[in-house]
Amino acid sequence: MKIGIFDSGLGGLIIARSIRKMMPEYDYVYLGDTKRVPYGNRSHEAVFEFTKQGVEYLFKKENCAIVIIACNTASARALRRIQQEYLVQNFPERKVLGVLVPTAEECAKYKRVGIIGTAGTITSNTFVDEIEKLNTKTKIFQNPAPMLVPLAEEGEKVRAVPFLNEYLKPFKAKKIEALALGCTHYPFFKKEIRKILPKNIKIISQDEIVPKKLKDYFVRHPEISKQFSKGKTTKILLTDLTKNIEKLSKKWFGKDAKPELIKL
Ligand code: DGL
Repeated sequence: MKIGIFDSGLGGLIIARSIRKMMPEYDYVYLGDTKRVPYGNRSHEAVFEFTKQGVEYLFKKENCAIVIIACNTASARALRRIQQEYLVQNFPERKVLGVLVPTAEECAKYKRVGIIGTAGTITSNTFVDEIEKLNTKTKIFQNPAPMLVPLAEEGEKVRAVPFLNEYLKPFKAKKIEALALGCTHYPFFKKEIRKILPKNIKIISQDEIVPKKLKDYFVRHPEISKQFSKGKTTKILLTDLTKNIEKLSKKWFGKDAKPELIKL
């Protein structure tokens, strides 16, 4: 069986690439809902419905044993319900994991932490809830950074700098020790963020932490990981495909990305 990775669009390819790099032996299927991206400004219900359709496709059509929801907005707004309702009723023996809990585990190591994400992720307060479950002493400061997704998709690093300055400014006065990048697209701006933030502030980037935590999870859950096939393949499935989407897929995943069009 394969490992599925779901995202609202292409940003999750950055994390998919780092997961594959750490565990190249497995078979992966990436599903990006490029037709309906962005999820960041949609209602709870819409994000749940779209995410459920993506997970269902990966289970039914691609025979995935596990699906990793790389999208923070979907992890924040749909994951719990998918695990507690959809999975229990339809695929009790399979797993769906998100990216928020591993990020929260990293944040909980600090006394003062900042988080940026889409409006949907920040207003859901899910990061705060997850961090507080682990460490009630961590002080959490959040700021939505809505313009970064479209800028990343246009490859606009320089034009993003004034927005990054604006979004990161409130954190400086809060004396944070670490900043979590709570969105699939933000690792694209890691260098620019590094330049803006004081050197002593650690950047928590999901492409650096999630693969390792996933590997540990597979070791702790052999009942899941023993089902994985080891053919070293990666399929990229998208719900909309244009020349630009193809170009961006290669930029974020690598030259071997050959996206295929599917219908959810
Ligand atoms: N994948 C989304 C996230 O990580 C960003 C793009 C979107 O808004 O759909 O929150």
